[in-house]
Amino acid sequence: MPFNTELTRALGIKVPVVQGGMQWVGYAELASAVSNAGGLGILTALTQPTPEDLRKEIRRCRTMTSSPFGVNLTLLPALVPPDYAAYAQVIIDEGIRIVETAGNSPGPVIKQLKAAGTTILHKCTTIRHAQSAVKLGVDFLSIDGFECAGHVGETDITNFILLSRARQTLGIPFIASGGFADGQGLAAALALGACGINMGTRFMCTVEAPIHANIKQAIVAAQETDTELVLRRWKNTSRLFKNKVSLKAVEVEKSSTTGKFEEVAEYVSGKRGRQVFLNGDKDFGVWTAGQVIGLIHDVPTCEALVKRIETEAVDALRQNQALWVGESGQVPVSETGTVGKNTNNPQAEIWGVGKSKL
Ligand SMILES: Cc1cc2nc3c(=O)[nH]c(=O)nc-3n(C[C@H](O)[C@H](O)[C@H](O)COP(=O)(O)O)c2cc1C
Repeated sequence: MPFNTELTRALGIKVPVVQGGMQWVGYAELASAVSNAGGLGILTALTQPTPEDLRKEIRRCRTMTSSPFGVNLTLLPALVPPDYAAYAQVIIDEGIRIVETAGNSPGPVIKQLKAAGTTILHKCTTIRHAQSAVKLGVDFLSIDGFECAGHVGETDITNFILLSRARQTLGIPFIASGGFADGQGLAAALALGACGINMGTRFMCTVEAPIHANIKQAIVAAQETDTELVLRRWKNTSRLFKNKVSLKAVEVEKSSTTGKFEEVAEYVSGKRGRQVFLNGDKDFGVWTAGQVIGLIHDVPTCEALVKRIETEAVDALRQNQALWVGESGQVPVSETGTVGKNTNNPQAEIWGVGKSKL
């Protein structure tokens, strides 16, 4: 086990990198590839039309990896909500040990999963929601900064503030999500007190991600400025790829005199967004992407990507330690042996072979 953080220990993974749930992307091909590479791959429950289809997808993923993988269950407002309890029951019955929850009112699902002994990694964009999730008994938090793809929340706080607030206040381990693509980012997250990172957009742009190659190339060609915030008016702000449709949606949203959601509904249709990943036309509908698109320049395999992140992170941690030479040239150790309450100690803990290796 090359890394030794609370996340790697709890999940039995080698590298503290999680592939976040992704609608229409998080299928067995991607989740198994990430898990085989030493991270935590995650299937996205709602990519499956029914709980029984999720059962089949979990079983299919098991044939592709013998390493641990998780399932994401996202609870979003819907006219006809999916049967979340039935999806959760399949997750339990199929022996999934780790679930990424996200979205609104997760209490009942968290209770159901915790009663079966499942480890819960709950994703949220504010410290207030994180604190509520702690009260619900989640095991880890995934702190999603404003940089992230998808639902960014309404407070617009980026990870530099959120992660340190998490370290100062939460009292349970957390991972950093949003804006991560490389090992330097992982090292930075560890230094801020996280015990790992979560990546979405970066994993979309891998060989195994089951989406059209044109979309991966659109990500490679994009800059960090090529995302749009859509649906702010309805307090459901989503960060999407900047294209003809998301620009039109923003225009209608801003100019509408009625403020009726129906006016933008056709532009933000999830069905058209799904087609983008299948037909490769980046302007066919809206699709989710984070500001991290500006840091993505290639389409590696998950194995190569996770290995690269591991190497870069270790180099960054070593180089940073070498920057402090002290009066006597000795590495300092704080009184508590940690860099803050409830954090990992980058000197002693993260690189499993011990302090002398850093
Ligand atoms: C295409 C796509 C679809 C996503 N769908 C979901 C989803 O269904 N549920 C969820 O909790 N997060 C979803 N996310 C968010 C990711 O799990 C993750 O939190 C986010 O991508 C992190 O930001 P990053 O893209 O900068 O790494 C999605 C992200 C992308 C890129």
